[in-house]
Amino acid sequence: MEEEAGGQQAPGRRLAGRVLLYSSLILNAVLLARHHLFLLGACGDDGNGGSCCGLSWALQAAREAEAVAATDCSGHGRVFLDGVSGEDGRPGCECNTCFSGPDCSLRTPNCTADADSGDPLFLEPYWRRHAAAGAVVFSGWHRMSYFTTNAFFQSVELENQIRQLHRAVGNAVVDGKHLVFGTGSFQLINALVHALSPDASPPARVVATAPYYPAYKLQTVMFDGREYEWGGTTLDWANASRNSSVDGGGFIEFVTSPNNPDTQLRKAALGESMAVFDHAYYWPHFTPIPAPADEDIMMFTMTKLSGHAGSRFGWALIRDEKVAKRTYEYVQSNIMGASRGWAADAADGGYQGRPCSPTTCSHGEDDIFAFGHDVMRSRWRRLNAVVSRSRRRISLHKVPPQYCTYFKRIREPSPAYAWVKCEREEDEDCHEALLEAKIISREGGRYGASSQYARMSLLKTDDDFNVLLERITDLVNAEKYQAPESSSM
Ligand SMILES: Cc1ncc(COP(=O)(O)O)c(C=O)c1O
Repeated sequence: MEEEAGGQQAPGRRLAGRVLLYSSLILNAVLLARHHLFLLGACGDDGNGGSCCGLSWALQAAREAEAVAATDCSGHGRVFLDGVSGEDGRPGCECNTCFSGPDCSLRTPNCTADADSGDPLFLEPYWRRHAAAGAVVFSGWHRMSYFTTNAFFQSVELENQIRQLHRAVGNAVVDGKHLVFGTGSFQLINALVHALSPDASPPARVVATAPYYPAYKLQTVMFDGREYEWGGTTLDWANASRNSSVDGGGFIEFVTSPNNPDTQLRKAALGESMAVFDHAYYWPHFTPIPAPADEDIMMFTMTKLSGHAGSRFGWALIRDEKVAKRTYEYVQSNIMGASRGWAADAADGGYQGRPCSPTTCSHGEDDIFAFGHDVMRSRWRRLNAVVSRSRRRISLHKVPPQYCTYFKRIREPSPAYAWVKCEREEDEDCHEALLEAKIISREGGRYGASSQYARMSLLKTDDDFNVLLERITDLVNAEKYQAPESSSM
């Protein structure tokens, strides 16, 4: 933990812990971060962490937050106030994969690339660049209650801000829809399955089209019961209904659009089903926005919008009041409403609170979507340039350029994942073949697809991506040295 300046003790620490370097633009944070830097010298520090420039209790917290954030980790790591303390009692650098040492300056030679998780750290440099705009400060007594304004479990102001966000981005129609918050959209998957399931048997079948996001199956199987059961892929049921051999409780179809793992903009496959549209990636950094989505049930997540996966916040937009009420009741019974930390940000004007500030979605050069699209487009281009040299080892899914109403132009592809096919017959387990080449991917089988496919995440840090590209380059270069008979296919 950070040493306290001037003998100030625990209260300063507690407050420091509450200074969160989150998204967006706001007041307290801007004042703290900017004015602290410029005015501290000018108005004179009282040396005790005491009142300065109109700030009193927040000053020490701001000092500690900035001191920690300024620690040099050689551009390959970062320090957090709540990081593990070293011998000097201070939190040390947390290094990116393949880097180590006290300041993360040591590169592990020939390191394995970890392209497994969809951890959206590609946005970390954006928030570093907009540090003042993204900082938020909470008092120790902020929103301690179970309830928010007007005794609700979810913040009305945050609801308003989310509606504004969708209107400004143009990616979803919010009028006539109810909002339900969840602890990540992950929690909303089962909340919605519960809300859509019949009270009496037979149970509903939860289905998705392969390759599908594994959590739909994982959660449904985990909570399987009287109300619902995992029904597999839509293809099976489309065939069965043509043969009129489908009985029972109806379908709940998850439609991920754009799809994780292969980026396709999708429609529901089973017309008569109740469809839940998971729009986790329907933001301009990952996909063109041809038109605002207007389905009856839509899920979104802050994880892929701003990159704040650890904050665990997602929301559903639901047309039908009864379905919205059942979903809300699930979240309420399960966790008494999603974390109020998010609502606090809204009130204080964090990114979530003023989602469409000039910094974040101004349709300008420097907004989060322009930044995110730039990074992801460049990664996709570089990856394609290397993989296109492969004649027989691996290939990537194709993503066409398309007009985007947010950028008002045709935009190049910038997918979150690469859906890789191993082309050699002997590489029927693509995940294993990539592992041999020192690349950790995710097995195609987990997406309901053939094991000849694997998913590679492109969303992580620059370091992660660069190591991945090195290993793929090695893999492609190795083709040159393979025996001619193995090149026959
Ligand atoms: C398609 C899809 N839906 C939902 C989620 C869950 O997101 P959250 O972090 O909000 O739980 C993810 C996360 O990767 C995802 O890829």
